Amino acid sequence: MIDVPPTGSPLIVLGIETSCDETAASVVERLPDGAGRILSNVVRSQWEEHRKFGGVVPEIAARAHVSCLDLLIGEALAGSGRSLAELSGVAATAGPGLVGGLVVGMVTGKALAMASGKPFVAVNHLEAHALTVGLTEGLRAPYLLLLVSGGHTQLLLVRGVGVYERLGTTIDDALGEAFDKTAKLLGLGQPGGPAVERAARSGDPARFAFPRPLSGRADAHFSFAGLKTAVRRKAIELVPLTDRDIADLCASFQAAAMEAVTDRVGRAMELAEQRLGPGAPRRLVVAGGVAANATLRARLDALVRSRGYSLHVPPAALCTDNGAMIAWAGAEHLARGAVDDLSAPARPRWPLDQNAPAAIGAGVKA
Ligand code: KG4
Ligand code: ZN
Repeated sequence: MIDVPPTGSPLIVLGIETSCDETAASVVERLPDGAGRILSNVVRSQWEEHRKFGGVVPEIAARAHVSCLDLLIGEALAGSGRSLAELSGVAATAGPGLVGGLVVGMVTGKALAMASGKPFVAVNHLEAHALTVGLTEGLRAPYLLLLVSGGHTQLLLVRGVGVYERLGTTIDDALGEAFDKTAKLLGLGQPGGPAVERAARSGDPARFAFPRPLSGRADAHFSFAGLKTAVRRKAIELVPLTDRDIADLCASFQAAAMEAVTDRVGRAMELAEQRLGPGAPRRLVVAGGVAANATLRARLDALVRSRGYSLHVPPAALCTDNGAMIAWAGAEHLARGAVDDLSAPARPRWPLDQNAPAAIGAGVKA
């Protein structure tokens, strides 16, 4: 017998995240009025395991999740002061992500749900990022979401829980990936985003005129491969690189990337306004690891001011991958009576907007 909580009751949900290189578990409370509270939030990053390979190795990631997930869940439960029996449900990321890691989280979540007789919720990782502002500041749809991480670069119109329209996506690399690859090219450490941002601080963003990919186009898609190639070409031309060259390359790359992103967000704002009609609230939410970038924040600040929008960015620990966002998305589903079957599969590809047409060309990320 599964003990499904009656509608309108307070919910306490355990969330498990294993879709990429962070193992995370968290317990979150959702009150009947829709307010949320984090009772515990434990994250273990695997960067050390992947460092020498210069990127995330799926097999190593899966093993690392196996080795610590049970401990992390134990810590999350202990930290929340709640027992398994006191939970209303268990949520785990079902996708999109690396299949090995997803399976680890799903199997663990299902086993806990089965053993305790609690409902299980299979959570879409992108939806969890999209709904985090409901937990952090009680923000309700509609809003425009810019999701910029190592694996995803998307613009989504969030119309309500479960109702998403994808307005833009990358046709090649994700933004965080472009930062990571630039860092690798220039011999900076990983994760590359913070390393490039640090080096860029003392650099000249105007020294190199790198392309602003897709800027000015009528759609709201992204592309970073051409920019990455331009940086590589310039770096090869300059070899041997001085510290000044590296700083200038980073600053010029960052300026180009963020200017391109801001152009695309501006276009998505117009598309969102067309969809929602006049009088709809104008709100931009930013999520994903790249949201920590100060240049991006400054550019988006200027953009929202010029367009009459408000800007909402969850605290850094909830912008990057974490268990609280999974628990919260699970709670939002449970509050609506949505429960998944224990046969729910891991879904390495799971676009939020199933109707989104393919972007330009091949290799479009969901
Ligand atoms: O959301 P996230 O923590 O995880 C996954 O993508 O799984 O995002 C990590 C990405 C990495 O590519 C990292 O280099 C990038 O976010 N990142 C940044 C900054 N901090 C993290 N990129 C640019 N500037 C930053 N300050
Ligand atoms: Zn993520």
